[in-house]
Amino acid sequence: MSINMNIGKNDGFAISASKLTRNFGPLTAVSALDLTVEKKTIYGFLGPNGSGKTTVIRLLTGLLKPSSGQVSVLGCHLPQEANKLRLQIGYMTQKFSLYDDLTVKENLQFISRIYGLTPNEQKARLSELLSIYQLNSLSKQLAGSMSGGQKQRLALAAAVLHKPKLLFLDEPTSAVDPQNRREFWEQLFDLCDQGTTILVSSHYMDEAERCHRLAILEDGIKKADDSPQALITNLPAKVVEIEANDLRRIKDNLTKLPQVISAAQLGTHLRVLVKQEVEQPIHFLQQQSYLTKNDKFTLVRASLEDVFVTCTGKGAIAS
Ligand SMILES: Nc1ncnc2c1ncn2[C@@H]1O[C@H](COP(=O)(O)OP(=O)(O)O)[C@@H](O)[C@H]1O
Ligand SMILES: [Mg+2]
Repeated sequence: MSINMNIGKNDGFAISASKLTRNFGPLTAVSALDLTVEKKTIYGFLGPNGSGKTTVIRLLTGLLKPSSGQVSVLGCHLPQEANKLRLQIGYMTQKFSLYDDLTVKENLQFISRIYGLTPNEQKARLSELLSIYQLNSLSKQLAGSMSGGQKQRLALAAAVLHKPKLLFLDEPTSAVDPQNRREFWEQLFDLCDQGTTILVSSHYMDEAERCHRLAILEDGIKKADDSPQALITNLPAKVVEIEANDLRRIKDNLTKLPQVISAAQLGTHLRVLVKQEVEQPIHFLQQQSYLTKNDKFTLVRASLEDVFVTCTGKGAIAS
């Protein structure tokens, strides 16, 4: 997918942060984060639990004050102009935060009153949202009794009710099945096409792959930041799949080699990331005593998961 690189230059960035830091006591949850998000794009935060995704989102929505650093969102300087920003953004929290004991329609009515819609505006907008998010047949159902996918559609409808220019979605699809996830992403692309900038956090690779650009976070530190394609193309590693007997033993041996970034068993084969500087990775692997020429070696294309493994945890290559 290509993005119009001129958008940011013409209109400025939806989000720009410099050295954004947030401490909780001795813990640095977000550390010197530099971030720019172009308008009308979908930007992803990919990272494991505890990597600081929610904290960054709370900082960027103005709900949490930074310990240090500069941040400007839709031209509002935070935290000073958080109130001015409030009506221009939508925020779908990680945990379902609507009222279980109100119906779908009552929840949306409640939110539209918070945003000060007139009765006529409310009627028109609710009818539009119930239709876009396929909630018409559920409008009288209690939110608490809905499935994960249905709750998520309602939460998205609520987050966009006031037509925000910028939408924050914190792990929006962690409780939904793959089919619903795909539909949900189609709705995000529709919103983006209509001009909404979206910042979405996730720990799913397939979700991150759909973003125009993404940052990989670990322990509050940004480890990588680029388009998924560029991250994959520029991966400083080669990927070899091995089919052999006793993959467990081979894996244990391979991971001791300084040239090997990681080895992971996937079904019947081992996926091995070898450092870029090894010119002939298959030849290199065949030289190991516990592998033979009869084993099957295939050089394969890198994936976003390989990027993730390479820049986080034990696999991290110092940049
Ligand atoms: N209000 C808080 N008080 C103390 N520690 C917090 C608070 N919020 C988050 N943290 C800590 O900050 C780190 C990052 O958390 P979070 O931003 O929720 O990560 P993620 O959303 O990626 O799972 C974690 O170690 C978490 O325990
Ligand atoms: Mg979180």
